[in-house]
Amino acid sequence: MGFLIDRRLQRVEKEISQAVIARLPRYFRYLGELKDQGRERISSRELSRLMHVTASQIRQDLNNFGGFGQQGYGYNVEYLYAEIGKILGLDKTHHLIIIGAGNLGQALANYMNFERRGFIFTGIFDINRELHGKKIRGIRVRPMEEMQRFVRENNIDIAVLTIPKDGAEAAAQKLTEAGIKAIWNFAHMDLDVPEYVQVENVHLSDSLIKLSYMINQYENGK
Ligand code: NAI
Repeated sequence: MGFLIDRRLQRVEKEISQAVIARLPRYFRYLGELKDQGRERISSRELSRLMHVTASQIRQDLNNFGGFGQQGYGYNVEYLYAEIGKILGLDKTHHLIIIGAGNLGQALANYMNFERRGFIFTGIFDINRELHGKKIRGIRVRPMEEMQRFVRENNIDIAVLTIPKDGAEAAAQKLTEAGIKAIWNFAHMDLDVPEYVQVENVHLSDSLIKLSYMINQYENGK
């Protein structure tokens, strides 16, 4: 049965649009909160009010996964949360390291909530000798020279890159050689890595600029 569901999800995943995939983490987050509150089920209308998207959008999105909802009952929160989690690969644990123990690297290391989603902060590395040995959430900052061995020996699949762009390409190359599967890239540059290394670029400034655009749009439309 589980096998059949997995096969169905694999097939469905290939067909659903990137736009729907991009919305899944948000559904996952809201459903996680509802689950934590002990909610058993929710209607598309109530979910729509919570998430500020239309109920029809929710029904359309979730229908992509074989219609998890039931007429007159709504969605089973725990089931939907688990199924979306599977699609997002969050039913597995990921071990991550941070490259760059500066402001941003330390802030991310100190944010405990990633662990609740199965992302385990395992190591942090920096070229600055003064930082070596300093403990961040109980984990000591190590020199970059130890990074490749650490990745191989500790089953690390994700690296978070929080260093200036000058060193980013070389760091990405070393991570690739060590067998990293994915890079969460905060450095302000596009990384040139093989296709089997997944990269998610994060630019907080893009989001801030978008906000400025939204202010403009709103004020011009008044
Ligand atoms: P920071 O200067 O506090 O920390 C950078 C750390 O990286 C330092 O500890 C430094 O020793 C280390 N480092 C430098 N080169 C390295 C290398 N090749 N290997 C390992 N460690 C290395 O800077 P902060 O504020 O933490 O920002 C880090 C980077 O992230 C900056 O380049 C900044 O532009 C970028 N950034 C990106 C954001 C985004 O949204 N994408 C937001 C904020 C910062």
